[in-house]
Amino acid sequence: MTLKLAVIAGDGIGPEVVDAALAVLDAAKSKDGFAYDTTRFPFSAAHYLETGHVLEDADLDTLRNFDAILLGAVGGQPNDPRLAGGVIEKGILLKLRFCFDQYINLRPVQLYPGIDTPLKNKGPEDIDFVVVRENTEDLYVGMGGIARERTPHEVSEQTMLATRFGVERCLRYAFDLARNRPRKHLTLVHKTNVLTYVGQTWHRAFTEIAEQYSDVQTAYHHVDACCMYMVTQPEVYDTVVVPNMFGDIITDLGAAIAGGMGIASSGNLQPDGTAPSMFEPVHGSAPDIAGQNKANPIATIDSLGLLLRETGRIKGDSAAVQCGQRIGDAVRKVTSNFEGKSLDRSGYGTDAVTKMVIDAL
Ligand code: NAD
Ligand code: IPM
Ligand code: MN
Repeated sequence: MTLKLAVIAGDGIGPEVVDAALAVLDAAKSKDGFAYDTTRFPFSAAHYLETGHVLEDADLDTLRNFDAILLGAVGGQPNDPRLAGGVIEKGILLKLRFCFDQYINLRPVQLYPGIDTPLKNKGPEDIDFVVVRENTEDLYVGMGGIARERTPHEVSEQTMLATRFGVERCLRYAFDLARNRPRKHLTLVHKTNVLTYVGQTWHRAFTEIAEQYSDVQTAYHHVDACCMYMVTQPEVYDTVVVPNMFGDIITDLGAAIAGGMGIASSGNLQPDGTAPSMFEPVHGSAPDIAGQNKANPIATIDSLGLLLRETGRIKGDSAAVQCGQRIGDAVRKVTSNFEGKSLDRSGYGTDAVTKMVIDAL
């Protein structure tokens, strides 16, 4: 079968890291004999500033026909007034996650051998967990409002939403994932001591579902303590399940302990296959290093590997799964030669790292 891949390169370093990943895919596919075609879409801050288009409903209909989406990064300078109000982040990224019901954001936090971590006396055996971030609820739903704007009586409110349905499907995914990992350990991260309403929904569902997974060991950590453990004792984590906002924050921390933003991959999954899943690096468009051949492409290359393994599994395409595995292996082979360098500041450059991965294939 031919895998139909939609590509949204985006802004800043997005196109650089996406081109790197597609070059790796081109080199990898010949060995595994699987077929794919790519279609590029221009959705980005730059495209919006040029045309006034963000992402229309008709675009969603088009994207829906693809097997998966690879996204680089979207967004301009964080303080650009023309892009205020999250017009791009909400209008592209969140719109896709929500409209395609990609309710799992899977974010591995894994220190590869050969990569430096800022944590003293910690190695690859200590930093090896996966974060299951709920991806369609919480503060991200955009419920709330602002009144009496720009007056001394301005009032603003933003709702943290948890539905039993949304929480439960996320937890079940996390329990299934934990069950299939060697350690079979799942930690719920929340802030139930303060967020007592949404916290109840999460905690009650977690406790109830745990009874159906007697082979999975469970733990609960408040999110502030989780940040501390991620730095002092990252080895306590195996599988972590977390609501959307806290998940966003702890996975940047996760990226930092695993060697930098340029290494953290992710998948926005629609596990039931009702719409395409979307794969992207955790990082953003990094305007500070765009166009300088400085971006580390590993996060996007790894995201592509994840895309092939997940999509191949859902579509029953074993050649795609195999290709995804080979890409993951090639990345590990490359990083093992880095001798403790922080890859994001290794000085190798986007092109050189891409070539190393291709050679390793
Ligand atoms: P960022 O992730 O773009 O950058 C944070 C820091 O990490 C910067 O110093 C950057 O140089 C560095 N960095 C990021 N990726 C790197 C890579 N591959 N290699 C080496 N260094 C890398 O976050 P930001 O600066 O807060 O956001 C910039 C823009 O990106 C904003 O418009 C933001 O909204 C957007 N954003 C988009 C996404 C996405 O598309 N998924 C994610 C996060 C942020
Ligand atoms: C991420 C990003 C997004 C998020 C932003 C850009 C909307 O930070 O993918 O981690 O908050 O989910
Ligand atoms: Mn983020």
